[in-house]
Amino acid sequence: MDKYIRQIDDTVDFLRTRISETPCAAIVLGSGLGKLGDHIGNATTIPYSEIPNFKTSTAAGHKGNLIFGMLAGKPVVAMQGRFHYYEGYTMQEVTFPVRVFARMGIKTLFVSNAAGGVNPDFHVGDLMIITDHINRMPNPLVGPNMEEFGPRFPDMTTVYSRRIRTIAQRQAEVMGIKLKEGVYLASTGPTYETLAEYRYFAIIGADAVGMSTVPEVIVARHSGMEIFGMSVITNEAAMLSDTCLNDGNDVVEAADRAADRMTNLFENIIAEI
Ligand code: HPA
Repeated sequence: MDKYIRQIDDTVDFLRTRISETPCAAIVLGSGLGKLGDHIGNATTIPYSEIPNFKTSTAAGHKGNLIFGMLAGKPVVAMQGRFHYYEGYTMQEVTFPVRVFARMGIKTLFVSNAAGGVNPDFHVGDLMIITDHINRMPNPLVGPNMEEFGPRFPDMTTVYSRRIRTIAQRQAEVMGIKLKEGVYLASTGPTYETLAEYRYFAIIGADAVGMSTVPEVIVARHSGMEIFGMSVITNEAAMLSDTCLNDGNDVVEAADRAADRMTNLFENIIAEI
């Protein structure tokens, strides 16, 4: 664990040589959602391959850049692509960037993802505010506790900031966007769900399902960050059958079509936080 903390500090030291002010928020951009990076002004773009201790992003729709700059008049950093457990990374590797952000003093984490709609009222292209989650992945906090970040047994009853959710709803109303709200279930992937699994996830309280986000959120919560999460619904469980199948390319394309709406919404939320 000492080595892990030393790596975090080395990465923080490296990033500090490249930026002039600490971002107020970090934004994790999910599959097909990297466009927000193009809206960042005065940008310093650093490929993951140049950042000490960062892994490379191998997933479809993930560019693999860290972008520092201004969004809605605020200093931010965006991850254009994330690390997934299904890529073979350990949970420590998946959540490493969030530890770096916390150590830099960044107080707020925005997370986004492409997700399958389990709630029958959800349709492709819908934006869902994450109100809560169900974790079916290994927990990234298993192992010795990093006391300098947070407690051994972190609270998980109030993970997703009510304050920012309220701002999001207000901004969406002004923009004429109808937002869904719901529970995100994280599964390891890389398989999509069987029809029985989709039904099961709906029964246990999920509205959407994906293969990311929750590890980063758990670590951000452990580090005391304020968290806002959004899913873009890219496929609908209810539409799937023997003849209508899930396809990773369709998921990335559906996310890409919704990316402008999510980007504009994030920008307006960040203006207010
Ligand atoms: N299941 C899991 N992950 C996903 C899905 C899904 O249906 N859609 C996009 N990511």
